[in-house]
Formats: sequence, C-alpha cells, structure tokens
Amino acid sequence: MQTLEYAKRSGHTVTFLWSPHYDFTAPAATREHARRIADHCIEVSDIHDPQATRAALHAADADQADAVLSTLAFCTPAAADLAELIKARGTSVAGVTNAGDKGRCREVLRRAGIASLGFAVVTTEADALRAAATIGYPVIVKPALGIAKSVTSVAWCADDIRAHFATAQATLDGLAEGITARLDERYIVEELAIGTLYSVEVAADGRHTVPLVAVRRKVSVNNPVIELGCTVPSGLSAHDEADLGAYAADVCRALGLNLGIFHVEVMHTATGFRLIEANPRITGGALPDTINTVADLDVFAILVDLFADRPMPLRPLRLSGAASHSFLAAARPARLPEHLSPDWFTRFEAVVHSGWAHVGPGDMVQQMKGNFDSFGMIRTIAAAPALAETACAEVKVAIESLIGIPLLADQTQSVPVRVDQLGPRSGR
Ligand SMILES: Nc1ncnc2c1ncn2[C@@H]1O[C@H](COP(=O)(O)OP(=O)(O)OP(=O)(O)O)[C@@H](O)[C@H]1O
Ligand SMILES: [Mg+2]
Repeated sequence: MQTLEYAKRSGHTVTFLWSPHYDFTAPAATREHARRIADHCIEVSDIHDPQATRAALHAADADQADAVLSTLAFCTPAAADLAELIKARGTSVAGVTNAGDKGRCREVLRRAGIASLGFAVVTTEADALRAAATIGYPVIVKPALGIAKSVTSVAWCADDIRAHFATAQATLDGLAEGITARLDERYIVEELAIGTLYSVEVAADGRHTVPLVAVRRKVSVNNPVIELGCTVPSGLSAHDEADLGAYAADVCRALGLNLGIFHVEVMHTATGFRLIEANPRITGGALPDTINTVADLDVFAILVDLFADRPMPLRPLRLSGAASHSFLAAARPARLPEHLSPDWFTRFEAVVHSGWAHVGPGDMVQQMKGNFDSFGMIRTIAAAPALAETACAEVKVAIESLIGIPLLADQTQSVPVRVDQLGPRSGR
C-alpha cells in the first residue's frame, strides 16, 4: 500500500496486478483501497506466467510500464520475469533466482568466497540423513524455495529428520496454494547457526549497493524459526554494524541483486556473520513502518525512486531514536475470555506508539506456526533500542495477563538464543 501510495504521490501512472491466490496477504479493505488508488487494476489468473500477464496488460492498454516491482515474496519472481519480458526496469531474473533458491544461494556464496554455512540440497529422507551426518547436528531442514516455515524443522538427531519427512507432505497439503505453488521437492539441510539474528535492508540502483539499515530480530525462545518482532537500531557497535552492512551488501552483489531493496537475514555467530537468507524483495510485515518511524527517509519512497531511476541515498538511513515491535502470537490454540471488553486493546493503544489486534471476546487464536498467524502487533519508541525493547516486552506481558492466553516469548533482553535453551525437536 505504501509503495502504491508513494508512486501515485510522485506522479507515476500505477498499474496494480493482483491475483486472488495472494488475498491472504492483506485484509479485504486494504486490497480494495489498492484497487481504488491504482490507475489500472488487472486481475491476473496466473501471475507466474509472464506471457499471460503481458497479454492482460496489453488488453488493458497498460503495457508501457517503465518498471515492474513487487513487495511480496511470493510475487517477486513474477515481477522480475515480467520486467524482463516487457523490457522494463526490474530486479535481475538471475538475482531473484539465485536468492530465492536457498541451495543455489549458498553455492553462489561458496564460489564467491563469502562466509556461509555448511549445507546440502536433498530430495529424500535418506539423503537428508547422510547430509546431516556430514554437516554435523544440529541442522535445519528448509524447503529449498523457501517461505514455508511450517515445513521447516530444526533437527538434533536422525529421528528429527525422519519426523520432518513423515509430516512434511501433510503440512504442505494444508497450506494456501499461493504459498505452495512455487515449492518443489527439494529441501536444504543446513548447519544451525547459533547467535543473534539481524537483518539488513540493502538498496541497489543498478550501480551502487548500499546497506540502508540493520535491525535486530526477535525470535521465539524455544523455536528460532518463528520470528516475533524487530528492533531498530540493531544495538550492535558501530564497527560491527558496518561489518554486517558490508557483509550483506557483498551477498547481494554476489547473487546479482542489482535493482531493488533486499531483505538480508544474518546470524551473528561466535565466528562472525553468516547469511541465513537473502530475500530478493524489501522486508514485509511491520518492519518497514518500524524503520520509517525513526528514519530520516521513507524506505518505500526509496524503493519506488530507485525503480524509477531516480537517485537513491548512498548512505545508511539516519535514525532519530529507537523503535521496537512485537507480534502477539499464541503459544497454543486458545480462546479469549468471553468477559473481555470488546475494546480491550484501546488501553494498550494509549501506551504504545502504534499497534493493532484483530481479536475480541470469545475469539479463538491459532498457535503461531508461520508468518501469518499473529493476531496483533505492538510498536514502541524510545531513545535507545534496549529501552524500546523493554517497553515492548512490558506491554506484551500486560496484554498476556489481561487476555489470559500464553504468548510466544522472545529473547528481548538482548540474550541470544543458546543451544541449551532450545529443547529437542524445537523446530516443529
Ligand atoms: N541455518 C540456520 N541457522 C539458524 N537459524 C536458522 C537457519 N536457517 C533458518 N533459521 C531460522 O529460521 C527462520 C526462517 O528461515 P528462512 O528465513 O531461511 O526461511 P523462510 O521461511 O524463507 O523465511 P521468511 O519468512 O523470512 O521468508 C530464520 O529467520 C531463522 O530464525
Ligand atoms: Mg527468512
């Protein structure tokens, strides 16, 4: 939405391509708003068929696009393909393919001599067991094409790998078609990196590659796969943050991510920074707004400008303070008490910078297993990152006690997730 709005504000003609397969990524009112503000709005039956999309654009007399972009992980490859086909500015197809395929990504890093993690790409349980034995436990098993946390497992022993393969298909069958459409049968088995998780938004305008901002990521205390929020600035020393930015920019250059803003997730381990994942698109969820709350420039504006071949900042964003957000996510399925006031969240709105909750008395909440299972978000601001995190943690505790539902805990006190804090089979 912010990208569309900024593009309109800066005088562009905007064509909004949409597919019902991705309706789950935004509420109906937001989708409706997007359709209203765009100059052209085209429903595409198969977003992953660029020829069909080009035909649809042509039919709507909207095929004169200067640039094609998507802020959605699921649609970034489609945007790159379409840009190439209609000769518009877009992220390089090779860059998107290298980044989106976790096995290929690690291979590129290996060839470029960039610090990475032990890995193997497998399709069968037997191969996964062999790979894990070679890499050494603990390992993590993830779909090679990503974005399916519920089919991601941390494995501490061979039985965990067997359990992963025993349940993976049933889990996949239960996921939205928009999520599974781009998965294949490959998994990556990867060394489990232990440390503190950060992410960097790296901007590239076709000439320069610039780390814009680094944030610290909150993950679930007993399942590091579940991400529960972020804090900006990262809390790293200036020296370490510069190292992290340089590392993330090197990763983007090696992958061929030439145009766009890229969301690079990196673990700070005892032996240095190690890539977790390079996403060929800007960060999603609550993080862009958390960054924008304290940054001197708007990340969505930078995104549109660089696709439009307008100048982008050649320096990191300047921050006027700290901001932290946490998702409200249930540790197990539960029902909110009937006696809860329907406007229970109002009192928290008064103490946070911003936030939302879309559950009321008597509603069921699901256990958080992936990126789309939270039922609310709170964001706090303060002078320093630790203060913003503490404030966020305190509000979360107060919410938990009011609604009587155990929330997934994160390690907000700047304590990295340690091996001994993780239980066996914590990946599922
Ligand atoms: N090798 C690893 N070592 C430690 N933790 C890892 C590793 N790989 C993944 N993780 C954890 O699992 C999370 C999800 O992994 P990853 O980002 O690769 O998958 P994804 O499903 O594509 O995620 P996203 O929703 O960010 O696109 C990471 O953010 C991190 O917390
Ligand atoms: Mg990720």
